[in-house]
Amino acid sequence: MLNLVLFGPPGAGKGTQSEKLIQKYNLVHLSTGDLLRSQIAAGTELGMRAKQLMDQGLLVPDEVVIGMIDYKLRENQDAAGFIFDGFPRTVPQAQALDRLLAQYNTQITTMIALVVDDAELIRRLLKRGETSGRPDDRDETTARRRVSVYNSETAPVADYYNQQQKYIAVDGIGEISEIFELICQNIETAVAKTA
Ligand code: AP5
Repeated sequence: MLNLVLFGPPGAGKGTQSEKLIQKYNLVHLSTGDLLRSQIAAGTELGMRAKQLMDQGLLVPDEVVIGMIDYKLRENQDAAGFIFDGFPRTVPQAQALDRLLAQYNTQITTMIALVVDDAELIRRLLKRGETSGRPDDRDETTARRRVSVYNSETAPVADYYNQQQKYIAVDGIGEISEIFELICQNIETAVAKTA
């Protein structure tokens, strides 16, 4: 199985690159942000509680997102592999993901971290906010809080994968198609190492 963590700060291009990767490698895309937004759209209690945090640019509790991933893994047991986008975002989430995958005798193949500087991230988020309608993109204070939460709470997840020699950094600035090619090259090198 090919199981990828696509990692990076808000606006780094995780969703953009995930769309291309799922087609090329026939993977199931698991984006916790998208799963949470579906819950909000459906008006569930979980969605309403998550919305209050998401609109402020804060993280949703670990147990909520871990539960959603657990459910999706059970639902997709025949998948050729997964791309985890926006998850894990804390070290306890990364540890939980390892435990969940072990139940299916599989593990993370590699983590690709998109590297983009804060000024470019804010520029992209505010530009997307003009058209996407995402409440957490609309104002600069919230966009900056998301980047700051990433730096304090999520960045340590990179060390977790680095210790497992699964961390690969890719420059996330430039043409989308060129970044995609770079990601694919790195995935194929990582797969060759595990073969
Ligand atoms: P989530 O939905 O995961 O959002 P995010 O991480 O903030 O990421 P984004 O979707 O904003 O950015 P992206 O990296 O996917 O970039 P994109 O491709 O869209 O999370 C939202 C919220 O949900 C969190 O704040 C939190 O509250 C909660 N949440 C989610 N997961 C959670 C978890 N695991 N634990 C706890 N809470 C969780 O690109 C951005 C823009 O840039 C687009 O307009 C795109 O067109 C453009 N762009 C992309 N690539 C390029 C490029 N190379 N050059 C120029 N522009 C580009």
